[in-house]
Amino acid sequence: MAEFSVRFLPDDKTVTIREGETLLQAAAEANIPLKASCGGNGTCGRCRMIVREGEVKQLQTGKLTAEQQAAGYVLACQSIPQCTVVVEVPAESRLSEHRVLLAEDRSSRADLPSTLDPLFQKVKLTVPPATLDDSRDDAGRTLAALKQATGIDNARFSLEALNALPGALRRNGWQVTLSLADVKGYIEITGVEPGFREDNYYGLAVDIGTTTVVVQLVDLTDGRTVCVRGTYNKQAVYGDDVISRIVYAVDNKDGRQEMQKAVVDTINELIDQMLPENNIAPADVRAVACAGNTTMTHLFLGIDPEYIRLEPYTPAANSLPPVPAGELGLHINPRALVHCLPGVASYVGGDIMSGARLIEIDRAEELTLFIDVGTNGEMVLGNREWLLACACSAGPAFEGGGITNGMRAMAGAIEHVEIDPANGEVTYNTVGDAKPLGICGSGLIDLISALREAGIIDRTGQFLPRPDLTRWREGDDGPEYVLARAAESGNGKDIVITEADVKNLIRSKGAIFAGIRTMLRMVDLPVEAIDRILIAGGFGRYIGIQDAISIGLFPDVPLEKYKYIGNSSVKGAKMALLSRRVRDEVEALAAKVTYLELSVGNEFMDEFVSALFLPHTDINLFPSLI
Ligand code: FES
Repeated sequence: MAEFSVRFLPDDKTVTIREGETLLQAAAEANIPLKASCGGNGTCGRCRMIVREGEVKQLQTGKLTAEQQAAGYVLACQSIPQCTVVVEVPAESRLSEHRVLLAEDRSSRADLPSTLDPLFQKVKLTVPPATLDDSRDDAGRTLAALKQATGIDNARFSLEALNALPGALRRNGWQVTLSLADVKGYIEITGVEPGFREDNYYGLAVDIGTTTVVVQLVDLTDGRTVCVRGTYNKQAVYGDDVISRIVYAVDNKDGRQEMQKAVVDTINELIDQMLPENNIAPADVRAVACAGNTTMTHLFLGIDPEYIRLEPYTPAANSLPPVPAGELGLHINPRALVHCLPGVASYVGGDIMSGARLIEIDRAEELTLFIDVGTNGEMVLGNREWLLACACSAGPAFEGGGITNGMRAMAGAIEHVEIDPANGEVTYNTVGDAKPLGICGSGLIDLISALREAGIIDRTGQFLPRPDLTRWREGDDGPEYVLARAAESGNGKDIVITEADVKNLIRSKGAIFAGIRTMLRMVDLPVEAIDRILIAGGFGRYIGIQDAISIGLFPDVPLEKYKYIGNSSVKGAKMALLSRRVRDEVEALAAKVTYLELSVGNEFMDEFVSALFLPHTDINLFPSLI
């Protein structure tokens, strides 16, 4: 089979690919992160490149205009090099540095459990010496001493540790340091060293999001977060949402392995940055707690995800066994155990249970609504007496997907917008104060609210005729509003919002509001009964709650009831890493939750249709806006 080299500009990276492979695959090989929302189907038009030298066979040209084609633009996922080629990757096609939501305050005690009993720990132990009067075996006397010192009564020796035990006990006056690993259900003594050791040892708390991955490096001896890093999930080249990822994993030979490798590579990239920076040896990282949605967890562990997306939507497992890091290829101690937090169902996973445990929803007196707004809009409603969870497919609009100039919250994303109702002029802020490249979810919420307030769109999201405004115009696909003109933007192109974009956003916000209403109806409670609403996720941080209420995304309750809790997934994972008790409590919490499948029955659909207005067809649900 022939091979061709592909050189990417301006990176000046060259890779060799086999005949028949696409430019998208070549970019993944070259570690050039590309936008590929549709997962390579040729429908999203985001993976554009410019062919500078050589020839590619184009399977289809999708959304490319005649002008773009004449300028050499191709869709990377639909282009197969026929010889050595040189291609340029424009800025707008790249997944640039992502504004990952990191733990806000590393010195915070809020994400520390009340007692440290981490998933891996070392215990210094003085064991009573063997005598003629006390001739118990070494293992028995050590286990008894361990129980007396720590209360641990379910420890077992590994063969290796047992081998080391007799010599270690006698070499240092019956003082030893034991390495203990939680194996879920019992504690394994994995190592025995003579004398008392003062080593440091570490663990990782990992949030595997569909879009981004965040890793916290934690000192297991004191619970301190040493370092936090985040980046986009390398699986992004296979599509924006979990369904595209599942389809790729199932439909392609080696697809599942590719997906697993992509997420493991993502985590390893962060590990490879953090450990040398902090002078920590990989061998000293001894445990991992991971929180991810059900699909991400399956793909990370290499488990078949096929039935997650097929009715009746059954995952292979909600509760997962710990797996040695070496089996997954993580760049840490190969024997460190990786614990994935349990989910409830195909679309309510360990990330949500991690957050639910963090806020202790299962102990709360108050009726609590916990919402993680992302592609899937997962939510949990309840308190210490009962818990209900659901996921409404909000779609990727709030993450910039399917919006003409939508983008994730990266440098250059417009994240806050105001429009002067008097003249329709706009002011905005961008992430990193960079020149605008597009608009992210929080900016979109502001924008919809502002367009409505300025009388530029009506309650259905339809554009009103406003030729009096310089930013209103007729575009190729109907009326549109110009947020940033080509001269001021970072890519020399106008940044606009179209009527189709607005309708898309209304569908997304409608899905989330309908999910909330459907859950309330299930338990026959009014919205006023909710005592607190906790918003989580990488998107939530920038949400203007009042604007979100005014477009009908969130219920119209007093702002004091709302609280933003940040990346609850990684915070909950850290607590589980530092506490076996917490890890067990997450399992118990997940088992207690009743899952509401919104695709069954008509309630959700009825609510959804009613929510396709700004803010809603029933304005009485938003009394503060009347
Ligand atoms: Fe290429 Fe969507 S068009 S990834």
